[in-house]
Amino acid sequence: MPRFFVNVDHVATVREARKIDYPSPVRAAMLAESAGIDGITIHLREDRRHIQDADVWAIKEACTTEFNLEIAVAEEIVSIAEEVRPEQVTIVPEKREEVTTEGGLDLERGFSRIQEVTQRLQHKGTKVSLFIDPNEVSVRASLKAGATHIELHTGSYANAKNPDDLARELKDLQAAAHLAQEIGLVVNAGHGLHYENTPAVAAIPGMQDLNIGHFIIAESLFVGLPEAIRKMREVIDQASR
Ligand code: PXP
Repeated sequence: MPRFFVNVDHVATVREARKIDYPSPVRAAMLAESAGIDGITIHLREDRRHIQDADVWAIKEACTTEFNLEIAVAEEIVSIAEEVRPEQVTIVPEKREEVTTEGGLDLERGFSRIQEVTQRLQHKGTKVSLFIDPNEVSVRASLKAGATHIELHTGSYANAKNPDDLARELKDLQAAAHLAQEIGLVVNAGHGLHYENTPAVAAIPGMQDLNIGHFIIAESLFVGLPEAIRKMREVIDQASR
C-alpha cells in the first residue's frame, strides 16, 4: 500500500501573500499527522516564495512522521539540507519563472552536479530521490547518479486532456515504475494528483510514496484538512487493495 505524504507548501503560499505569520505550515503539518499521513513534504525554493528557512527547521523539530525535503541543487539550499538532515531529500529542477515544478530533472546536462549532491546528502544519512519524467533514459540515469529512490513526475498524466493521452501517460508511468524496480530503485510519484486521478497511480505495483499538495490544501478550504486527508487516504488504500 503506498504511503501518503502531504505537501504543505501552499499553506505558506497563503501566509506569504500577506507576509505575516499565519497560516502556519507547521501547524498544518502537525494537524495532517494527526489525521493519518505517513510523511510531510515541503519544497524550500531558492526564491523562498512559500516555505521559509525557519519553516524547515520548525517542521524538523515538530513533526514525528517522515520528512521529505524538496530542493534544487543550488549550493545555498544544498547546505541547508545537509544541516537539517531530513530523512529524505527529493532533488527537483527549479526555474525562477515557473508557477510550479515543470518537468523532471535534466540528468544529461546536470548529471555531475546531481551525482555530487546525491553523494553529499547520502553521506549525511539522508535518502536521496530524484524527481524525473517517466522514461527509460531518466530512470537509468538516476541509478547511475547514485540515487536509491526516484519520484515519477505525474504532471503530464494529470494534465492529459483526453482518454488516449491519459492512457499513454499512465502507461509511461507504469513502464518507468516497473523498470526502476527491476534495477533496484524505490519508486515514489507526485504532482497534480487529486481524488479522481490518484487511484491509477496508487495501483501501480510497488509504488512507495505519493506526494500530494495543492489539491489537498485547496480541498481543505471546503472540508477541512483532516477530512481532505481522510478521504485521500481512503482513495489510496482502496486503489491499492
Ligand atoms: N512532488 C514534487 C517533486 C513537487 O515538486 C510537487 C509540487 O511541489 C509535488 C510532488 C506536489 O504536487 P502538487 O502540489 O501538484 O500535488
